[in-house]
Amino acid sequence: MSLLNELEAVKAGALVAFGAATDLPGLDQAKGAVLGGDGRFTVLLKQLGSLPKEERPAVGKALNAVKVEIEAALGARRAELELKAALPTEPTDFTLPGRRRAVGRLHPLTEVTDDIVRAFRKLGFAVADGPEIEDEYHCFDALNTPADHPARDSQDTFFLDAASRPLLRTHTSSVQIRVMEKMPPPIRIVVPGRVFRRDNADATHNPTFHQIEGLYVDRGVTVGDLKGTVEAVFREVLGNDVKLRFRPHYFSYTEPSLEIDFTNALVRKLGKEWLEIAGCGMVHPQVFENVGYDPEVWSGWAFGFGIERIAMLRYGITDIRLFYENDVRFLRQF
Ligand code: DAH
Repeated sequence: MSLLNELEAVKAGALVAFGAATDLPGLDQAKGAVLGGDGRFTVLLKQLGSLPKEERPAVGKALNAVKVEIEAALGARRAELELKAALPTEPTDFTLPGRRRAVGRLHPLTEVTDDIVRAFRKLGFAVADGPEIEDEYHCFDALNTPADHPARDSQDTFFLDAASRPLLRTHTSSVQIRVMEKMPPPIRIVVPGRVFRRDNADATHNPTFHQIEGLYVDRGVTVGDLKGTVEAVFREVLGNDVKLRFRPHYFSYTEPSLEIDFTNALVRKLGKEWLEIAGCGMVHPQVFENVGYDPEVWSGWAFGFGIERIAMLRYGITDIRLFYENDVRFLRQF
């Protein structure tokens, strides 16, 4: 066989061998068999010197061209096998927790929110969401809040347009309505989210802050369920020495309505006996009527916690504005 014929055979054999390699070590082996010291291509290359002088340039050129082709095929196959090696061999379980981020850390408000949500999820609550730009219906009317209620005053609420009156939601309670409009009972949800009020910033107020809303609707739900659930969650998030006190209050969307006061060692250290942290109550029958639930069949409770309040208690922070300044000296402490 002439050298040129052999060269073609070597090339064809090399391309087949590279394609047949199923992993990187296999490919290296195939490469060695062609381009290594005793490789089939190298052996041909060594024969170039013994050819008659006039044949050498043409054969040399052919050898070079084949070498380029072989190396290109090798490179392409290597890229394929590297990609294959990088892919997981097991099917991926996308429900596993992600890797921890290499830089940065969670904001204290995010940590507290996550902890509260986690505690509720253990009890079977799902997480729901709703818009920050709301309409008066979902923020007030459907929650049985009358048109002359002070919360609806533009002194208290940010209205975005005087005519059509979209607004920035003043509480996450609007999401109760949005969820009940879409889903039939039973309902068990929590809604963490941002709310807005026309408060001037001082140590305990800010024009925007965060709440977590809860809603539980089923047959035969009682205030006892409300109390037990909220107590279990606060113990989990803020420790076992937590004590809660439920006081009668008024909200238009619950009857009876209660406010929850909280105390633990930290509260007493701040020189206080109790701190108000949440509103709650049994869902008002009118609210059920508004979303098309039969109040004779369904009962439920709802609550709204202030997340900043809870975070301030947990970490002993006395000025709410620190949460929003994003000063790394503050954020690094958590
Ligand atoms: N929306 C109330 C607030 O912003 C908190 C609240 C009270 C939420 C009673 C509720 C509830 O769901 O039942 O102050």
